[in-house]
Amino acid sequence: MSEKKAPLWHGRFEEGPSAEAVAFETSIHVDSRMAEDDIRGSVAHATMLGKRGIIPAPEAEAIARELSAIASELKSGALAIDERAEDIHSFIEGVLTDRLGDVGRKVHTGRSRNDQIALDERLYLKRAVPGVARSVASLVATLSRIARGHLDTLMPGYTHLQRAQPVTLAHHLAAWCWPLVRDHGRLSDALVRLDAMPLGAGALAGSGLPLDRASVASDLGFPGLTPNSLDTVSDRDYCLEIVSALSILMTHLSRFCEEVVIWSTEEFGFINLSERWSTGSSIMPQKKNPDFAELIRGRAGKVYGNLVALLAMMKGLPLSYNRDMQEDKESLFAAIDTASSCLSVFEQMIGSAEWRTDRMEAACTGGHANATDLADYLVRKGMPFRTAHSVAAGVVRDCVEAGVRDMRDLPFERLASRSPLIARDVLDVLAPEAGVAARDLPGGPNPARVAEQLDALDVFALSALAE
Ligand code: ARG
Repeated sequence: MSEKKAPLWHGRFEEGPSAEAVAFETSIHVDSRMAEDDIRGSVAHATMLGKRGIIPAPEAEAIARELSAIASELKSGALAIDERAEDIHSFIEGVLTDRLGDVGRKVHTGRSRNDQIALDERLYLKRAVPGVARSVASLVATLSRIARGHLDTLMPGYTHLQRAQPVTLAHHLAAWCWPLVRDHGRLSDALVRLDAMPLGAGALAGSGLPLDRASVASDLGFPGLTPNSLDTVSDRDYCLEIVSALSILMTHLSRFCEEVVIWSTEEFGFINLSERWSTGSSIMPQKKNPDFAELIRGRAGKVYGNLVALLAMMKGLPLSYNRDMQEDKESLFAAIDTASSCLSVFEQMIGSAEWRTDRMEAACTGGHANATDLADYLVRKGMPFRTAHSVAAGVVRDCVEAGVRDMRDLPFERLASRSPLIARDVLDVLAPEAGVAARDLPGGPNPARVAEQLDALDVFALSALAE
């Protein structure tokens, strides 16, 4: 551990902490990513102090000017974060004080690091989360574009990973878009709720100085104020909400990735990942592995870990601020970073894949995925559904006994022997494309219905990407 930096404040202590204690409590290696947010908040705070005459206006201006200089120097690299500082707040305040002396020592008037960190986190999230939401919308746009080209591409739909009923690739891809639309909604919704300005809560009990919370809020682009000072410094719901939303998003990505893994097997062969988004094996020369899909699937677990860490950290904490809460940033940032990189890689992986439509269409026959269509045919002819279900099951049994993979290949007499209602026109409804076309309720796989879904998804993606 390097030498401790001279502290900004001694408080009541005569003795400084040991190097080990400093190393233990420091958070600068994590919270320095909020440097620009911390500075923005301090500029707004100092400006308000000057306007209110709590500190002389020229001093407030000097503070704001120096803070802006510090921000540009940090950006250009002319000023480096001093890892010996305790946290980003004390680092920035320390630099300011080194440069402005007593004037710098006024910036923290009427403020605590407890309301300061709540502000920094909210400013950071307002800056970072829209980018994640945009990546979600971009993925929806990519999937919708791919789907548009496959409105008529037949593939088996699965339940229990068993062929169930024929659908189309477009229908299947659109099915993965809607969870993403909901993910986008959850992220946007969390952003609305966290959009309240915390400064003025002080350490926990507000301030007796005539601060102007409303002007700081409007200066920083917040539509309103947090309503209770105790709640303000003890609330981390916004972290829990964002990381919950990201966990659900990762659940969706992991499930889609599981399909990519299954689909890229020789056995399925529905998808051929580009070489760019595949890996080889160190020993087996023939291998082309879907490692990126597996990594995304695996990283979902890390984001859940971040969420559980946050929940466990907050559980049972009494009001108001408790130092436990300093640990929130590691989980919060890790979840945002993981989800962001997974979204980017997933979109490129899926966007560059080749779709083996021949294999999908071939898989539509052979599993009797048209048995429900046979039952529906009989229902249309007046048979009660339960009876139709058992007639169709009988036909499937006949196929199994006769070693026939598709009921259309049974001798017609044998097919018809199961019910007097079965006529030659049954062959028209048993083709997979007929089954897909017939299922034309809103939300169904009929190509026109799916095209409507894609239109709605495009409207969503366009407006979300324009935000
Ligand atoms: N770095 C702390 C955090 O992230 C803020 C400082 C508050 N520290 C304190 N002892 N009250 O939560």
